[in-house]
Amino acid sequence: MHCPRAIGNNIYWIGVNDRSTDLFESLWPLPHGISYNSYLINDAKVAVIDAVKDDSTHQYMAGIESVIGSEKPVDFLVVNHMEPDHSGLIMRLLERWPGLTVVGNRKTLGMLGEFYGLTTNLREVADGEELKLGQHTLQFHLTPMVHWPETMMSYEPHEQILFAGDAFGSFGALDGGIFDDEIEPQAYREETVRYFSNIIGKYSKMVQNALGKLSSLPLKVIASTHGPIWRTNPGYIVDVYDRLSRQVTVPGITLVYGSMYKNTESMMEAVACGAVAAGVESLKIHDVSRSHLSYIIRDAWQYQGLILGAPTYDTGVFPAMDSLLRRLEGKKLGPRSAGVFGTYGWSGGGVKQMLEFTERMKMNVVAPAVEACCRPTRAELAACHELGRKVGEAVQHGAG
Ligand code: FEO
Repeated sequence: MHCPRAIGNNIYWIGVNDRSTDLFESLWPLPHGISYNSYLINDAKVAVIDAVKDDSTHQYMAGIESVIGSEKPVDFLVVNHMEPDHSGLIMRLLERWPGLTVVGNRKTLGMLGEFYGLTTNLREVADGEELKLGQHTLQFHLTPMVHWPETMMSYEPHEQILFAGDAFGSFGALDGGIFDDEIEPQAYREETVRYFSNIIGKYSKMVQNALGKLSSLPLKVIASTHGPIWRTNPGYIVDVYDRLSRQVTVPGITLVYGSMYKNTESMMEAVACGAVAAGVESLKIHDVSRSHLSYIIRDAWQYQGLILGAPTYDTGVFPAMDSLLRRLEGKKLGPRSAGVFGTYGWSGGGVKQMLEFTERMKMNVVAPAVEACCRPTRAELAACHELGRKVGEAVQHGAG
């Protein structure tokens, strides 16, 4: 059963939950599912704002018809974002309502042709342009790269609702409640950070541009394409996104290690003891071979300290660590208070490669790297303890 919910006067949430996709974009785990939020304005003209993924057709169409009935057509589909988790059903909507006009900016229209071969029923809008529906109006604000080049947001000025696309979104299905006052925001907090860092983080500068551009709009409701709708305290999610996109970190350490025969792991244990001895309360330890990159990226994004430990493998760093470093670099992780440790058997290379990463990423390496041959000595374990303590002290004093 589909349950459209009013989010304004004749404005409805008509989204769906996805509890069966394991990996978003075939990359990012969805242990708590995800929602694809879509919205409908039922006015003299009917507009749908963003659609959903293409595997919920029946449920989604039933939701629309439960609001407008089977006689009244949908006149406009506003495409704020072309990624197929929102555009997948476009052709089904056109089959059902052949008079439908698809509204997007110049880049959207190009992508509609490229993804779906759609070259008719299109209306191009420019930045700031308005679409009158009757009592309601939609204003379009281009916000490129939040999260694709064509991305825009739609604003309804009478009810001050911002249809924000992916911005302000979160992983996690909507468990009955859809509004911030119907859910526990803290329960979504970690999934919001993971969503941001995994999906949007690379484009943080563009998020800042969008926040600046939209800062003069009065906002009563923020309606993202994923996660809760913010009507009681929209400022909360704006603040969360502002901090995440400025990479404002909190005191804590992400300690990531790889280990083949528990020698590097024993160094990690000494590092962890040192960090806790310095008073660190948030210490997130990840075995790089077993924690999904998604969760390591999340923690690296939010904590001020980053400690990397791994063995040498084929004269370079342990492959799972290598993959992580490439991803963190790709995501444009900002500077952190850092430390590095590792092992080698007969020729080094692992620690060197991790240090080169910290250099490229302009990280502040606050303690000498510790590199052990085969099995760490007592002195090397003591040095690891000291490394953890120094990074711990740095994050206690330096987090912004
Ligand atoms: Fe939810 Fe960038 O798609």
